[in-house]
Amino acid sequence: MTGRLRDRVAIITGAAGGIGSAMARTFAAEGARVVVNDIAGEAGRDLAAEIRGQGGEAVFVAGDVSRAADVAGMVEQTVGRYGGIDVLVNNAIYAEGDGTIERLEEDVFDRTIAVCLKGPFLCTKAVIPAMKARGGGSIVTLSSVNALFAFGETAYTAAKGGLISMMRLVAAEYGEFGIRSNIICPGTIETKTCMDYWERFPEGFAKLRAMYPLGRIGQPREVAEMAVFLASAESSFVTGSVHVVDGGLLAGRRFEL
Ligand SMILES: NC(=O)c1ccc[n+]([C@@H]2O[C@H](COP(=O)([O-])OP(=O)(O)OC[C@H]3O[C@@H](n4cnc5c(N)ncnc54)[C@H](O)[C@@H]3O)[C@@H](O)[C@H]2O)c1
Repeated sequence: MTGRLRDRVAIITGAAGGIGSAMARTFAAEGARVVVNDIAGEAGRDLAAEIRGQGGEAVFVAGDVSRAADVAGMVEQTVGRYGGIDVLVNNAIYAEGDGTIERLEEDVFDRTIAVCLKGPFLCTKAVIPAMKARGGGSIVTLSSVNALFAFGETAYTAAKGGLISMMRLVAAEYGEFGIRSNIICPGTIETKTCMDYWERFPEGFAKLRAMYPLGRIGQPREVAEMAVFLASAESSFVTGSVHVVDGGLLAGRRFEL
């Protein structure tokens, strides 16, 4: 295999759908050996089979990132099959029932934090020994523009903000082991989950699109390209940084009187 990630072993969490599946396909096309993790068994198995059918290397490993035993099993299976770990992409997400702080139920807050913040904590903790043994690695964590800009969803915003701080600290504390840690903050991306939601509010969706200087929302592939860059040697001096992929949303809008 050739490519920017040739023979790199990459775990991508929540990779059965959305941005995760685009990253899994793009990583495999770039030569990576991809561990497709998800709680969605059928979709995850299908994706790994699709990648292998196209000449890539991928395996599905079921597991809930919020459960330490599942995460340990995922790391063990990865090292057993491929001999080590070079890349972790913290991507899995739970974002149902979120809202303003008054409307947010405690159990929704707990589950969101468990998947979106504790999940990356458990996965990062579990891969670091394997990365140290390999002499380094790259950890890419999916945060969101929600962490930097008031966009609704209290628990999700708290988790995504926490991720930026936690994963920058990982960069500071593990750089000496050759381990890099970077964060991607996507704007609105056209995934099935996202579109299923916006289909119910077509006028709101038009307003949302108009907030983007590029006049559109993003495609999963456009986030996957940033993840490939951060996972590859092309970004060898990049660590502890936040990479916004948002069609200019955070830049603001042209102001007209
Ligand atoms: N889509 C967007 O507009 C957008 C915007 C900003 C940031 N992001 C971030 O990008 C990442 C991917 O988002 P997406 O829109 O592709 O999500 P998605 O909902 O399309 O896919 C998430 C995947 O995670 C899996 N998953 C859920 N809980 C899990 C768990 N406990 N363990 C393992 N897997 C689990 C799901 O089964 C699903 O396949 C997330 O971190 C999200 O916060 C997305």
